[in-house]
Amino acid sequence: MKNYGYFDDQNREFVVTCPQTPYPWINYLGSEAFFSLISNTSGGYSFYKDARLLRLTRYRYNNVPTDAGGKYFYLRDGDTVWNPGWQPCQTELDSYACHHGTGYTTISSVKNGLKAEQCVMVPRGYRAEVTKLTLTNESEAEKKISLYSFVEFCLWNALDDSINFQRNYALGEVELENGGSVIYHKSEYRERRDHYAVFAVNAPVDGYDTDREAFMGLYNGFGKPQAVTEDKPRNSVVHGWAPIGSHNIRRTLQPGESVSFVFVLGYCESPRDQKFVAPGVINKQDAHTLLAAFQSVLQFDEKLLELKEYWEKLLNHFTIQSEDAKLNRQINLWNQYQCMVTFNMSRSASYFESGIGRGMGFRDCSQDLLGFVHLIPERARERILDVAATQLPDGSAYHQYQPLTKRGNSDAGNGFNDDPLWLIYAVEAYLKETGDFAVLDVMVDFNNDPSLAAPLKEHLRRSLRYTTSHLGPHGLPLIGRADWNDCLNLNCYSEEPGESFQTVSSHDTGIAESVFIAGMFVGAADSYAQLFTLMGDDAEAAYASAEKDKMVKTVETYGWDGEWFLRAYDANGDKVGSGECDEGKIFIEPQGMCIMADIGIDNGMAQKALDSTREHLLFEYGVVLNWPAYRSYHLNLGEISSYPPGYKENGSVFCHNNPWIVIAETKLGHGDLAFDVYRRTAPAFIEDQELHRTEPYVYSQTVNGKESFTPGEARNSWLTGTAAYNFVAASQAILGIRPQYEGLMIDPCLPAHLKTVTVRREFRGTEFTIEIHNNAGGEKGSVSLVVDGEPLEGQVIPVTEATKKTCSVQVTIA
Ligand code: GLC
Ligand code: GLC
Repeated sequence: MKNYGYFDDQNREFVVTCPQTPYPWINYLGSEAFFSLISNTSGGYSFYKDARLLRLTRYRYNNVPTDAGGKYFYLRDGDTVWNPGWQPCQTELDSYACHHGTGYTTISSVKNGLKAEQCVMVPRGYRAEVTKLTLTNESEAEKKISLYSFVEFCLWNALDDSINFQRNYALGEVELENGGSVIYHKSEYRERRDHYAVFAVNAPVDGYDTDREAFMGLYNGFGKPQAVTEDKPRNSVVHGWAPIGSHNIRRTLQPGESVSFVFVLGYCESPRDQKFVAPGVINKQDAHTLLAAFQSVLQFDEKLLELKEYWEKLLNHFTIQSEDAKLNRQINLWNQYQCMVTFNMSRSASYFESGIGRGMGFRDCSQDLLGFVHLIPERARERILDVAATQLPDGSAYHQYQPLTKRGNSDAGNGFNDDPLWLIYAVEAYLKETGDFAVLDVMVDFNNDPSLAAPLKEHLRRSLRYTTSHLGPHGLPLIGRADWNDCLNLNCYSEEPGESFQTVSSHDTGIAESVFIAGMFVGAADSYAQLFTLMGDDAEAAYASAEKDKMVKTVETYGWDGEWFLRAYDANGDKVGSGECDEGKIFIEPQGMCIMADIGIDNGMAQKALDSTREHLLFEYGVVLNWPAYRSYHLNLGEISSYPPGYKENGSVFCHNNPWIVIAETKLGHGDLAFDVYRRTAPAFIEDQELHRTEPYVYSQTVNGKESFTPGEARNSWLTGTAAYNFVAASQAILGIRPQYEGLMIDPCLPAHLKTVTVRREFRGTEFTIEIHNNAGGEKGSVSLVVDGEPLEGQVIPVTEATKKTCSVQVTIA
């Protein structure tokens, strides 16, 4: 079992100690509108706001070798050419470390007594990626160093950039300033764009290149650029073909001497009527302002410090100290950090999401919100309003929208019948966190059409009604194109290769029903009823409660299979996820969702369902989605059985739904069992980094299941609802700290090994310090609270009008 890195808790970093990781291990830079993906070997790309429409640098997915292309520095020291990140020259390094931190990455390496430290960040308040490169001569002899920087520009629209070569090869244009220190990429600026990119260094240069082939040589790869191997920059000015930015700087370093450079890769705009200062000469004002902020190392260091402080403050909203160091690092940094990345990216840009495929998901954004609402409530509010504005007037929703335009996109269409209910979950989470009921009266468009605008609460009303007006023969909700499981397409029969399962013209018989949506509806209707009671609308609350009660009965009658909850009925009315089926007898989703909604807790169904889950679905690396996995293609089930057994939606550990089982276990008071499921997918608990392959510090979407060929290997890291739901499971179910409309509920359900836990949590302006003493031995036990020295009746600490700044809570579990 080889390890490739370790957690540095003190510095809030994951340190990669070997460049040849089992898969590129990346970090995300940027917290506002400019973002970069950066791998441990300095691969990756940058974009502004939208990875499809405003991409600054090029990246080739599925390339050979993998992860070729990025922001590279080539160092020429005598006859040796090397890169701090090992790629692309792959020159063996004397030492290497890559520190992925909060919004920055530092790669530092040594070769032949020359030390290079490449520290990259996207500073707050700027639309740029900024790098400080420090070179130190650690040898006894003088060194003559020739340094080459390298970025490859993308022609903005990343999809077009990768397919429309007959046009693209004619477009490329650049301008230079300060003898080549500042390179402007201005392709398409002469026409419809009023934005350009700048790539600059804060020092005079000895040469430059802007034409890829001039720099690289047509037949050389990134690892053998001709300009570098010959140590001869071409001073090329690109006209069409492939624009790049490269600076050459030559320095002599005495023993012990150090030199630092600051490189800026920025996105700049000009007012539409002031795009040019002379014919063909672009207005560089925006770039000049940007570059002035990064002229010195001091300026860089200040901004880096600010960035670190920003993250420290942000992550201080919720911290834990316990005897489980892995749990601590999971909660205090990596889980919440990943939640923020899903806030920024949804499912758009990762090493598995090309940035041109999917935009922001209606369901995904709403769910992700559960994990970041406590960190950035104002932005969560904005997100809710953006998402709600793409809802259609009948209550259904576009499945996705484009981040730049914030408009629903018809690529994936609508008719994923769980989508609307996620809006209720998101608004509930926001209101419980903030108490900001005013948001319910904000006017929000339907289908981005202002003439259809209605108060947000009307959006909730239509979401709820969408389910109650789309019920099937058993009274369960119709599934539509799919529910949470995008690949259970019970109405979309795809018979032709290449058809998209989810949008193939639907064989909608009005029969296929989802027990998952039923469970979800029960949870949503319950919180909806509470909410409308609080708003004084008793009639609406009573309606929701009655519909909820009806649905509970329907699930217990038609959604129960004897030992577990059924998954669905297909378009023929046949059962899916039943003991009667040959394959796919049991599915995880309804077990989690129904029990989270309190179905079957009082009559033994919930306990039985969890026992069955353990028996059939749980294995070493988590709880698989379904069992047995489908071995042949079932036309009537859609995409799910298109995957080989044990992968993706067909029998992998689809990590996102594992925390549902964690929460369900706590509903029944099983602290040890809940934690046992939790730790099986939690990154900090990963033991075999080589087997796991993807980054061991963040959740991946799937871990190959027990029926796969490589159980335990993960895929699709970073952009997954797993992050949000695990934070909910850990903070609200295991630690039991749950925002309520009226206050903060403390209701832990801990494993036996956590005996003393201290949580610091900011909630509606008060800083709570919650000390939990657990003597319950792995089951829930009974909880008593002492708040600021006074025993409290019940478990909800009320929020009072008088804002008190701190509150100390003693929790005893007997
Ligand atoms: C993009 C830019 C915007 C610019 C427009 C011009 O949308 O974000 O700044 O005005 O392109 O086409
Ligand atoms: C992907 C989608 C998510 C869906 C899940 C299961 O993660 O982004 O919306 O619920 O797959 O199909």
